[in-house]
Amino acid sequence: MQSTSSARAHTNIALIKYWGKKNQELIIPTTSSLSLTLDRFYTDTKVTFDDKLTADTFYLNHQQMVGPIADKTFAFLKLIRQQAQIDTFATIESINHVPTAAGLASSASAFAALAGAGSKAAGLTLTKQALSRLARRGSGSAARSIFGGFSEWHAGDNDLNSFAHPIQENVTMDIQMITVVVDAHEKKITSRMGMQHALLTSPFYQTWVNEAAKDLVAMKAAIVSNDFKALGTLAENNALQMHSLNLSAKPGFTYFNGSTLEILDLVQNLRKQQILAFATMDAGPNVKIIAQSKDTATIIDILKQAFPHVQVEIAKPGHGLIYLD
Ligand code: PMV
Repeated sequence: MQSTSSARAHTNIALIKYWGKKNQELIIPTTSSLSLTLDRFYTDTKVTFDDKLTADTFYLNHQQMVGPIADKTFAFLKLIRQQAQIDTFATIESINHVPTAAGLASSASAFAALAGAGSKAAGLTLTKQALSRLARRGSGSAARSIFGGFSEWHAGDNDLNSFAHPIQENVTMDIQMITVVVDAHEKKITSRMGMQHALLTSPFYQTWVNEAAKDLVAMKAAIVSNDFKALGTLAENNALQMHSLNLSAKPGFTYFNGSTLEILDLVQNLRKQQILAFATMDAGPNVKIIAQSKDTATIIDILKQAFPHVQVEIAKPGHGLIYLD
């Protein structure tokens, strides 16, 4: 017996971040989070279950993977097999459409696409909510990539009630993200390690949990009222609070480098010149600038003058998981 399915999922950038788990095995976060799915960066994944196979194999961008990335992927396949009550091995073929060396996390699009293609190839028919719960087990942020546009991952407190749902799949706001790559090297501290270290040792962690709940309510109101300025202000502040947990951990650490801070400063200066732009950063030094389409060309000009060597990409709101077969 052979059974195949292919799916595409886009990456997402959190406007209200997830940073810490209350259950590490099930990936249940301490706070709810909210993101924007992007059109520019996505993963296409084909999964084939075949009785003749004697082991799982994983090809990423046509290269066979071994080591930690493959192990994490095979552990995820196990979850699919458990749900489908099968014991067949599979071949996974993934292509990451993230510009080479973009230094952007691709685990969200990767696990969302794998949840879609893998579950369907295994014979399961899952709702979007069930797909989101499954994707969450690969990488927390993947739960949100099942949906397009603005998506909220409701923290919940167990496997059944921790999943994302769409806030607004067809985005009405004029919003774009300019990704600014200052360093394309792999991060030294994974998000998995960084967030738990911050949770366990930052004296400000509980304050973060309280503030994040308020930020989320305000962010949803900004989306509903189409208030770009409120959305950007909240997103930048929420990101800086997340990063302050890392600085205040024991020992303290940061994902920022000098360029991150210089670009953050440039973005804050743009606002003094009446250009509405806001910054958000994840588990790495690269900056995502949240902007309106009318300003993106000007912002990129100013950015390129100050930093001629940075790599820049513009992304717009993207859609949720789709099947390619
Ligand atoms: O899903 P993970 O383990 O890659 O963690 C994502 C963490 C952040 O990107 C920093 C925040 C978020 O909510 O996406």
